[in-house]
Formats: sequence, C-alpha cells, structure tokens
Amino acid sequence: MGVVGAALGASSGRYSGGAEARVGQAHKCTSSGLGPREVPRARGWRPLGGLLRGSLQRRARPGERGGGRSLEWAGSSRGPRDDVRSGMSMTLTEPTPVLTETPMGATLMPPRRSISDLVTRGTSTGVLLQDLTTISSSIPWLRAQRYWADAGLHVFTSGEVPYGATNSGEPSRKAVEMYVASLRAAEQAGCREASSYVLELGTGCGLFAKLFLDQLRARSDAAGNRDYERTTYIVADYSKGLLEDTRKSGVFAAHEERVRRVHLPTRDWRAALAAALPEAVGAIRAIHANYLLDSLPFTILSWFEGRLFEVRIRTRLREELLRPGMSPPPVTDALASESWLAEVLESTPESAHTALRIEAEYLPVERASLPLPELIPRPTPTAATDSAAHASLQVLHGYGAIEFLDEVLGALRADGYFVTMDYNCPCPRKEPIEFQSYGSSVASGVNFAQLEAFARARPDCQVGVPTEDPTFLQARCFARGGAPTEVIQLFGALYSKEAEERIEAAHRSAKELAREKYYEAARWKFEEAYRLQPFNWNLLHSIGSFLENTLREHDAALEVAKRALLLNHLSPELWNLLGDCHYNLDDTVAAEQAYLQAVRLSPCNPRGHANLAYVFLRRGDAAEALRLIGHALALDRLGEIREELLGKQAEALQVRREHALRHKNYEMTSRSGYHALPGRVFAAHSTHGRA
Ligand SMILES: C[S@@+](CC[C@H](N)C(=O)[O-])C[C@H]1O[C@@H](n2cnc3c(N)ncnc32)[C@H](O)[C@@H]1O
Repeated sequence: MGVVGAALGASSGRYSGGAEARVGQAHKCTSSGLGPREVPRARGWRPLGGLLRGSLQRRARPGERGGGRSLEWAGSSRGPRDDVRSGMSMTLTEPTPVLTETPMGATLMPPRRSISDLVTRGTSTGVLLQDLTTISSSIPWLRAQRYWADAGLHVFTSGEVPYGATNSGEPSRKAVEMYVASLRAAEQAGCREASSYVLELGTGCGLFAKLFLDQLRARSDAAGNRDYERTTYIVADYSKGLLEDTRKSGVFAAHEERVRRVHLPTRDWRAALAAALPEAVGAIRAIHANYLLDSLPFTILSWFEGRLFEVRIRTRLREELLRPGMSPPPVTDALASESWLAEVLESTPESAHTALRIEAEYLPVERASLPLPELIPRPTPTAATDSAAHASLQVLHGYGAIEFLDEVLGALRADGYFVTMDYNCPCPRKEPIEFQSYGSSVASGVNFAQLEAFARARPDCQVGVPTEDPTFLQARCFARGGAPTEVIQLFGALYSKEAEERIEAAHRSAKELAREKYYEAARWKFEEAYRLQPFNWNLLHSIGSFLENTLREHDAALEVAKRALLLNHLSPELWNLLGDCHYNLDDTVAAEQAYLQAVRLSPCNPRGHANLAYVFLRRGDAAEALRLIGHALALDRLGEIREELLGKQAEALQVRREHALRHKNYEMTSRSGYHALPGRVFAAHSTHGRA
C-alpha cells in the first residue's frame, strides 16, 4: 500500500507496471522531460444528453476473434498492480548498481532497470509520433478509421480480417429463424407491416446478408407466404469501398431487388439512414451488427484501491521505416502525424500493419471527466474475493457501443429487435485487456454486461442473453418493449452454447473420423452435418476436400465445390478446391480458370499461384511454371508451402533440363549432315570435287 502511494507521488501518478517499474518510470519521465500533462479527450466525443435514463449499476461477464495479431506493444497494458504489493518484491528486485565479479572471472554490470520494469514495459525504441493520449484520440485509432474507410472486399478475401465465423451461413440461418418468428408473431397480433425492413450495420463483404436472403427466399418459397418479396434488406457500412464492392462482386446478384445500400458516417448514422430511406427510421423490424461494436470508441480503465485509472498510449514508428530526410510532424498534431504516416507507409505496404509500436500507461482519472461516467462499472467487493484481495480490476468502457445501441433502439419498430454478434470482454477482470488488430484495425472486444445494464435501465427495452455463451462467438439481443417474449426466448435458445455445439458436433466429428481414417463413418457424419447446415459453405468445403483429397472421388468433389461456390463465390479456398477437382479430372483449361479466380480474390496468397504452376507444368510450360513458383515462394513468407514449392521447382527444373537436352540433341542431329564434321565436310567436298 505504502509503496503504491509513494510511487504515485514520485511518478506524477503514472502507472506502467509494478511498483518497481514506477520507480524507474518516475526517473525516466524526469530525464525525458515528460511531466504530468493535460491528456486530450476522445476526439469528437460529445455527451449523450437524453441517452441515460435510470440508474445503471449492473455488472459483467466473458471471448473466435480473441486471437488475432495484437498491436506491437513496446510497453504493457497492465493495470495498476497487485502482485508487488508485499514490499518483498521491492527489496528483492532493486539491487544497488555495482560491478560483480563472477567465479569465472567475467565482469557483469547489473541491469539498469528492474526485472519487473523490463518484463512489463519492454524497451522503448522507435521514432516518437505521439505522446500519451486516450485510445480514441491516438494515432493507431485514427489509422484504424482510415483502414475501414479505405477498405474493400480484399481485406476479407486476402485473409487480413477473418470473416468465416459470421458469414458461414449458420449465423444467417439463426437470423432468419428470429425474423420469421417475429413476422408470425406480428401476424398473430394483427400488426404485420406490408413491407418489412431488415438493417445490417457494418455489412463488410455482404455474405451474411446474401445468405440471409438465400435462406429467407428458400423458406418463403416453400411456405408460399411471400416473406421474401415483402422484405427490404438495408446494407449499411462506414466504408464506401466495401459497399461498392458488394455491387462489383455480385454478392447480391440474385437479390438486388431486395437490397438497399446506405453509406454511414462514424456517428449519428440514424440521420444518414433518414436521409437515404426516410420511411425506414423507426420502422425496422430486425437490426444486425456483427463484429462492429468492437470497432467503436472505447477506453480501458482500471480500479485500484478505490481509485480510477485510464490507459493512455504513446505511439512510435519503427526506426528502420524512417528514411533519411524524413521528419514526422510535431507530436502534438495527431491528425497531421497520421496523414504523414499513411504517406510514408504507402511506399512500404508490407510494413503497413506492423509499423507502429505502442506503450501504455495508466494515469489517474476523474470518473466524471470520462464519457458516460454513470455507466462505468464500479467493481463490487465480490469481484476481487480471492487471494489477490487488492488486485487492480480492469474494465472496458465501451461508450461508443452504448451510443450506437441507443441509436439502434431508436431506429426499431415498437416490436423490433437488434442482434449483435461479437466477442465478449468479461469485465471487471484482473487480467489486462488486450488490443486486437486485424489489418490496421483496432478493437478490444465488447463489454456485453455494460450494454445489458444500459438497456435494462431503459423502460422500453428487453434484453436476451443465452443461458450459456458459446466459446468463440457470443451474441446479445436488445429488443423494444413491444417485441414478443417468444422471440426473445427463441434468441436465447438459438445463440446458446448448447445450440452451437449441437449444430457443430456432426461437422467436427466428421473431420475427426476422416483424420482417423474411418472413412465410411466420416461419410455418414458429413451427410448428417450437411442436413443440419445446408447453407454452410465452410462445411461444404470440408466435404469437398474430403472427397477430393482423401477419397479421390473427383466427380463428386467437383459437384460439391460448385454447390459451395453458389453459396460463397468470394472464397479463394473454394475456387482452389474447384480447380483441384478439374485438374485431377484432366481439365486443365477449367482448372486454370478456377485458380485464376482464386488469385484474383487473394493475390498475395501463394496457394493460387502454386496451383497455376501445376497447370503450366502439366502443359509442359516449365518456364512459366518456374516463374509462378518463384512468385509463390516470395509470397510464402511463413514458409507454409515452401517444401511443396521447392519439390515442384525441382520437378520443373528437371523438365526444363530434359527439354534443353532434347533440343540440344535435335540441334546435334540436324547439324550432323554431311558438312557437320570436318572429316565429312572434307569427304563431301572431295567427293563433290571428284565428281
Ligand atoms: C470487422 S468488420 C465486420 C464485417 C462483417 N459484419 C462481418 O462480420 O464480416 C467491421 C465492419 O464495420 C464497418 N465499420 C467500422 N466502423 C464503422 C462505423 N462506425 N459504422 C459503421 N460501420 C463501421 C467496417 O467498414 C467493416 O465493414
């Protein structure tokens, strides 16, 4: 306790790791001239006025995207710490700097920084671009906004941003189940509208929407109830490029009549919707947002011994990226620095997502100075009941997600609902809250408990929470007061861990059986899995690969690949599978077309180039095969298919050599006429001469 207080006093209130780290930090700050400062508030933030109603004192819970590349941390995001409180660590880990004579006669200098400091803060290197600031006013955050604003389909098809979980077809099935249940309930209540709106915010590549409309049409045709024809699906995104690409990619080719596109600003999207489709605002039956709430402004807070701290981050550029003659704008001008950075990285696109190093420190903060202070959960004593009774407790304060939810609720019909899928960040927690970064995006999960608390405090809002969350992708439902209970209950059943496991079990066990070489059993299981998820192209990819690569049943695999591509023609993996089927059926023309499509969708993936090399080699064009193999080798930076490529390269070189030898022999043969050798020439001449 005493240690913490003293350290705070000495270090102008900064926390960056353990108590030892703070001693080092205080010194470092003085020597670098960094004193306490006014930290800028989140850019563009404004209070929400009438947003808050009632008291909001509810608490939290827990997260496929949990992985991902984390931003390059030069420092730590750890909260004010608990494990060095005993004082013992202080005495043990701050040795006096003396030269030490080792038994072997070598002289060692003790480290200048404590081990705690070194392990929690790392080494600060790189060109300083911006000093400590809130996450949402930081350069990485501004960069993330630029990333989404400039994004196109390629961010998904290249594998930069994972999209399989939310776009596999299964989440769309659940969404259709909810929607149809809501329509039937409205009919029974005599309040079904003539034409219904479904809105998806942050549509990305558009597959979730496409597979929703596919399945809605199939159900509606089967039931003959025209649900499909009476639906307008609004696809809305912050990225103009992504919206435009939903046109170019043809993802809605079969549904264009049912689709409206709306470009959204970062905030006040309801006004943008009202401008584009005035009749839709307040009339939407179902709203969906997948992997979007985690991209909205947030901050990371830490409670420690009754005081509140906030994460501030410092941003540096990797030293080697600063070429001679370049100098960054002043560290106080974040916007100019971010634009400058974007220009610098244009010439080194391969470094674009790894250029920055960030350091984090926790600074004391007044709760009232933060956005939506009433909604910041204050940890209860029970939140820290175990051995680390005085542990710091970290909280994700997702004020952007709350503001967003408020807008969503205002856009819904009285019996409408909103379903969001994301990864839950359970708070408060003793562990640090990590950033995740796909491409140059910045995210940190969603504090679902905080959203629930916000919604429950409103008089006209219902909340749906599954009995138990699935491990990888979690969902919540927020509905207006008029939404029927059975729809909320259906949500709980559809999005629970139990339901997910029931649906996924057959697919998982089919793959397992195939791995174990129980092929007949695997066939049966795959068929069972297909019956459960007929619109899941990911599952069809597994079935196709099993038929193609394991059973070598190329005709059957070809049919499966074609069916899968009808569901998702944006998957390079499916085009490669189709190409493999054609290749093994000796149709190199069709194989080439399929592989080219894979390369178009994901030009930096070595697999498509490697496959094209196979086609050229089979055609005897070893030179082109070698060129493609070289290209694939350069792209295969992690060496994932290097062995295979090197094997193929050796084969292509052998073919080249054989060609060359044959050619050489031919030349020899053609030159071996009567005048090819001196003796023969002479003989021929003399014969001629004699004749
Ligand atoms: C991680 S992607 C998820 C895309 C899609 N929902 C999915 O599950 O694949 C985030 C999407 O949200 C969009 N986005 C980011 N910030 C946004 C904002 N403030 N308003 C609306 N869309 C936003 C991005 O352009 C991108 O399409």
